[in-house]
Amino acid sequence: MILNIFSNFFVLIHLFSVSYSQSNEPANFSGKKPNAEQLTFTFYKDANSKPEVYHTTSSSLHIAQSLTVFIIPDHDENSKTEWVEKLRVALLKKYQVVIIDWSIAGGDPNTAKDNTKFVADNLATFITDAKVPANQVILVGLGFGAQIAGLTGKAYTSQNSGQKLFIIIALDPAAAGFEVEKRSKTKIPDSNKLIATDATIVSCTHTNCQKYGVKAATCTIDYYVNDGNVQPGCTDDKDKCSHTRAAEIFLASLEVSNAKAQEASVTVLRDKVAVRTTSTKTELYGLSIGPTSKGIYQLKTTNTPPYLTK
Ligand SMILES: *[C@@H]1O[C@H](CO)[C@@H](O)[C@H](O)[C@H]1NC(C)=O
Repeated sequence: MILNIFSNFFVLIHLFSVSYSQSNEPANFSGKKPNAEQLTFTFYKDANSKPEVYHTTSSSLHIAQSLTVFIIPDHDENSKTEWVEKLRVALLKKYQVVIIDWSIAGGDPNTAKDNTKFVADNLATFITDAKVPANQVILVGLGFGAQIAGLTGKAYTSQNSGQKLFIIIALDPAAAGFEVEKRSKTKIPDSNKLIATDATIVSCTHTNCQKYGVKAATCTIDYYVNDGNVQPGCTDDKDKCSHTRAAEIFLASLEVSNAKAQEASVTVLRDKVAVRTTSTKTELYGLSIGPTSKGIYQLKTTNTPPYLTK
């Protein structure tokens, strides 16, 4: 009897966790929209100014004409998340920063993926209204945040007669809802996912192709880190750790700006990727690349910060 109660209890726990697992159904953008008040855009002019918080677009915000980095965390993160805070501090030495907090609109991953378009449309309008010139905008997003960056680029381009944003740094862009299995009959249209034409430069860092990140190369430049599937030094919760590693590596590249990646090819398998170097050609990793830097590269890292070597 007691044994039964216990085993039922464990069955219940199991069901509960299963019901919250990530669904691979394509994102559906036509459902109920969250309240725009649930999005916050926090503008940091420099390291010393008081941050300004905006809930919706505000005509009072005019961002000066200088490079501005918009950080879009993953659905279960916010401006207090460690990598977000560290990246903000590092970027403020050179750039203005806006952090998009969409954690309330994000919720569980299945709600998050359906809300990405809503967040992107609001962010595109915010950028347009704040009058930041397109060639001064850099979007940095992790996971679902990277998909939001792509959708924001598309929305901005359609709102501004074809003008493209400057750079998208897509950190392990989310697969759930945005990439289907190779053999699946369903196709995700280009309008509904991050692709190479979403900005002048779309740089993707792939660190967890075996679970959270997309497997295919869909950017102007795609960096597969180590084997692209799981990262060295990730022992507990390998996949989550590998996924977040993309953000840590990008953060490190602000200091180690001369790390090089080697030209490679990628083969998408059922549940992982196979990455192979194809030549001795190298390319820099990080913000120092130009629009002519294109292709697929393998970036080798160490297993401890700062991961990158000169
Ligand atoms: C998307 O969501 C809408 C509104 O909830 C629903 O009517 C529609 O059937 C959904 N589409 C798909 C393909 O699931």
